[in-house]
Amino acid sequence: MKKDNIILIGFMGVGKGTLARELSKNTAMFCIDTDDLIESFENKKIKKIFELYGERYFRDLEKKTALWLEQNVTNTIISTGGGFYKQENLKNIGKIIYLKSSFEGIISRIKNSANASKKLKKRPLLQDLQKAKELFDTRVKEYEKVSHLSIDVEDKKIEDIVLELRERL
Ligand code: S3P
Repeated sequence: MKKDNIILIGFMGVGKGTLARELSKNTAMFCIDTDDLIESFENKKIKKIFELYGERYFRDLEKKTALWLEQNVTNTIISTGGGFYKQENLKNIGKIIYLKSSFEGIISRIKNSANASKKLKKRPLLQDLQKAKELFDTRVKEYEKVSHLSIDVEDKKIEDIVLELRERL
């Protein structure tokens, strides 16, 4: 069965969750987030999961989440963690939209947001900005490759992103 979900992928802090919530306000679709699913499944925050069990364990949870989404979820907007795009069954879950921005744009988006320091602290892979930039550089081409559609979100108002996406979907 071809799934009618919308999957938002892209780097940490680019605004996948914000856009998913905004899109769901504008449609009859619910939204869910893969990190939220993992946190409720494990009853622990992502940061804690990394600290206690390491990244490998977290990636296994992402895989389990991807399989669960494929089997159980329809007609939903799914925002994902920045590394979720690697799931082999991603295309079976739905239409993949890549939210694109420069690294500098993402960091300034986080720094200018409410609760900026909380948003930085909760992301284990954003603690070292030099390493995060390297991760960003390797991922951008991969995000592009796995997505059905990419949308430039840098410096755009959320309402305009929603409009553009609805036109292009
Ligand atoms: C990760 C991104 C995070 C979270 C985890 C790992 C990544 O989600 O899944 O810390 O590998 O890019 P956000 O993209 O919502 O920050």
